[in-house]
Amino acid sequence: MRIGILTGGGDCPGLNAVIRGSVRAAEATYDSTVIGFRSAWTGVMQNDYEILDVDRCRGILPLGGTILGTSRDQPFAHDDGLKRVRKAYDRHGLDAIIGIGGEGSMGVVNRLHEKGFPVIGVPKTIDNDIALTEMTFGFQTAVQVCTDAIDRLHTTAESHHRVLVVEVMGRHVGHIAIWSGLAGGAAITLTPEEPFDIDEVCERIVHRHRKGRFATIVVVAEGALPREGTFVIPEPEVDVYGHKILGGIGSILAREIQGRTGIESRMTALGHIQRGGSPVAFDRVLGTRFGVAAVEAALDGAWGQMVALQKGQIERVPIAEAIGSLKMVDPDLLRLNTMFQPRLPDDEHPG
Ligand code: F6P
Repeated sequence: MRIGILTGGGDCPGLNAVIRGSVRAAEATYDSTVIGFRSAWTGVMQNDYEILDVDRCRGILPLGGTILGTSRDQPFAHDDGLKRVRKAYDRHGLDAIIGIGGEGSMGVVNRLHEKGFPVIGVPKTIDNDIALTEMTFGFQTAVQVCTDAIDRLHTTAESHHRVLVVEVMGRHVGHIAIWSGLAGGAAITLTPEEPFDIDEVCERIVHRHRKGRFATIVVVAEGALPREGTFVIPEPEVDVYGHKILGGIGSILAREIQGRTGIESRMTALGHIQRGGSPVAFDRVLGTRFGVAAVEAALDGAWGQMVALQKGQIERVPIAEAIGSLKMVDPDLLRLNTMFQPRLPDDEHPG
């Protein structure tokens, strides 16, 4: 079999593990060839590729990013996009293309499937928001980066008796925030799943400091929003390309907390550090399992399917069912988050 592979959307630790897993399975076990397209669908449409073999994939397992490069370009954005994809299949004698990407990229892979192209999807994102898979690779690495940062921020917050607001990624969901908030022992963690009330946040901080805790870590997911009717977030500053400039909700919160409580507050936005660098062991293993499973799905002709982690096993699910809605944070983790937050004066038990 001849299998094309590409990595699309934002990069993510563990992408190289998927590529390596696919190549090793294809070459060593299934006597197949893998053709890597550079910069996602751009490489397919512009015939920018390299033949990937076991030698080429030596040493890439611990590498962050993707050896193939990535982009957000896709065939449906071009009048002749589908024609060029068809040409790539013909030119290289491709039996399948494995598209590795986030929710948006899975949507593109699914549309290609609907047009009759033989495709397989592999979910990736640090945000962990793709439905029907318990975990995406890259997520655990991002959580570890945030947890290490929170550990460091604790000591400086305590030395200066400050509130430190840590803004983490996650797009529209709070998986990274909840996991790193719990792992790093943040006092308060704010997520898009549970809109916050700024007055209540400040009251909890003030009460905590009155009781003798002179430092507070607040983790805020970049997509967290205030409860309706509480306060209005100013429009985020954007750069010349219209991209949000880092430090959106985090800086607003730090400014509000300092203004309302009088406690000195600072903000740290962890930004793309969360996506860079070497994947943790879990993400290398999950990436490898996904890579092998994607090749096996192609050999079985399971077109339009996405590999997924369910109950610890690698399964296949229709991509069409995995897109369209995001996986939100587990209610049980939200319950722990609420349970561990600093109390309000009224919550205190007598004695
Ligand atoms: O989806 C991954 C992610 O890192 C999000 O957490 C974040 O909102 C977004 O990508 C940032 O995208 P960009 O790299 O285009 O700034």
